[in-house]
Amino acid sequence: MDDLHKHISKLREDFTNGTLNESDVNEDPFAQFEKWLQQAVDSKIHEVQAMHLSSVSLENKPSSRIVYLREFEKNTFSFYTNYNSKKAQELLKNPNAAITFFWPDLERQIRIEGTIEKTSVAQSDNYFNQRPYESKIGAWASEQSYLLSSRKELEQKVEQLKKQYKPETITRPEFWGGLILKANYYEFWQGRKSRLHDRICYEQENNIWKIKRIAP
Ligand SMILES: Cc1cc2nc3c(=O)[nH]c(=O)nc-3n(C[C@H](O)[C@H](O)[C@H](O)COP(=O)(O)O)c2cc1C
Repeated sequence: MDDLHKHISKLREDFTNGTLNESDVNEDPFAQFEKWLQQAVDSKIHEVQAMHLSSVSLENKPSSRIVYLREFEKNTFSFYTNYNSKKAQELLKNPNAAITFFWPDLERQIRIEGTIEKTSVAQSDNYFNQRPYESKIGAWASEQSYLLSSRKELEQKVEQLKKQYKPETITRPEFWGGLILKANYYEFWQGRKSRLHDRICYEQENNIWKIKRIAP
């Protein structure tokens, strides 16, 4: 165990892949996001769509988890979840949220902050209808974030729901759907040598995105 502690405390990575300058970035942060996302896809980054989502309860307690980005359009970022889950309940009461992407092979991080709303019923239906049958059953079966007595309880529920809902007729449960983050802040991070990383952020002032550099 001592070795593990030593190993972790000594891990060091020097980032040398690239640089990020004020003159390189797009004046529109969403266009800059799409550019980096495309480069990450082209680089075949594993789980490129995985983002770290943070919410804050009404008692000011933060909590974080990974979710998949599913749709993105003009400063909005959507993911799908159970509306009764811890995250959705927190976000529907306190809409302030943050998402973070980390793409180690590119030595890049993107941080986005904003506020959350439910996606439209039509958007949620549309996404649900594209999911494989097993995932649709999963959405019905899982009371996400609530206690289970055993794994068996979940598996029995799945079997029972499969008898109830046929692939041709299964529809979206009302308690499951999309949440959409509307961005009001972006930061693009490019790892550099000796911890002197590049951080370029975008803040909105009078509806205009202002580009600023912040210290690493
Ligand atoms: C790679 C990965 C992708 C995930 N994608 C989703 C997702 O898109 N939606 C979702 O509700 N949970 C997703 N999860 C599960 C969440 O991390 C989390 O366990 C779950 O949503 C319950 O979180 P909560 O109790 O804070 O609401 C994913 C987990 C991983 C590791």
